[in-house]
Amino acid sequence: MEKEKLQNTNYDLRKFWNEAYKEENAPATISKNDIEISDALDECLNELAKSSTSILDIGCGDGIMLLEASFFADENARLLGIDSSENAIRYANATAINSKRSNISYKLGGLETLSKMKDGSFDGIICSNFLDVIPVESAIPFIKEIQRLLSKGGHLLFKCNFIIGEKSAKAMNAKVDDEGNVYLSGILRSNNRIDDEWVKSFSPLRLLYKKEYARLGEDRPKDRIFYFEK
Ligand SMILES: C[S@@+](CC[C@H](N)C(=O)[O-])C[C@H]1O[C@@H](n2cnc3c(N)ncnc32)[C@H](O)[C@@H]1O
Repeated sequence: MEKEKLQNTNYDLRKFWNEAYKEENAPATISKNDIEISDALDECLNELAKSSTSILDIGCGDGIMLLEASFFADENARLLGIDSSENAIRYANATAINSKRSNISYKLGGLETLSKMKDGSFDGIICSNFLDVIPVESAIPFIKEIQRLLSKGGHLLFKCNFIIGEKSAKAMNAKVDDEGNVYLSGILRSNNRIDDEWVKSFSPLRLLYKKEYARLGEDRPKDRIFYFEK
């Protein structure tokens, strides 16, 4: 993607997601009793949290995934979520306060925020449905930061959408550009990368396993979860 298009695409994306989180309901209050391990995502979050003392969630959105991880983690674990959406961060912090999770914080930020952090700062990183909804050219520098920020032996939970085939794109009235990016109403919704491309991009992180995750109550193909170790 050429430079100007890349900048515009990222600008539109940040605006789109910030608007999406404006619709978010009143902040939630979540307690340990609400947390159970009932699907592949819960299993992976539990595994990551149990083996981590410091967890970073990049593109954390409403922060619910990191909040869930905090109930699986040791009470002394330190958890940080980063996102470019003010509305998402406001919701996430309010929910963490309501839920009395004092070891989590959510901060407004992006690539630059990560670049100021020390090598090996985290032994667990979550990155869910973020790198697949931005242009690949923008995802690559985030992947470099993940490789740097993860400590040796640390784990990455990377989740992304299913591949949108030609037929589905047509049915959704989506536009697909020459590079395979899928747009809905002019907003990039998937860079449509296949498993192999993701796994190669994260190398030398080593893929431990891949799982599939069906979103509750949504009639759509399953999300992909990749679990890596450094
Ligand atoms: C599809 S949502 C995923 C949210 C959450 N991780 C989840 O799985 O539900 C994508 C998130 O990426 C955030 N985002 C988009 N561009 C970003 C950027 N350049 N830096 C940081 N966050 C960004 C959006 O604000 C949004 O919260």
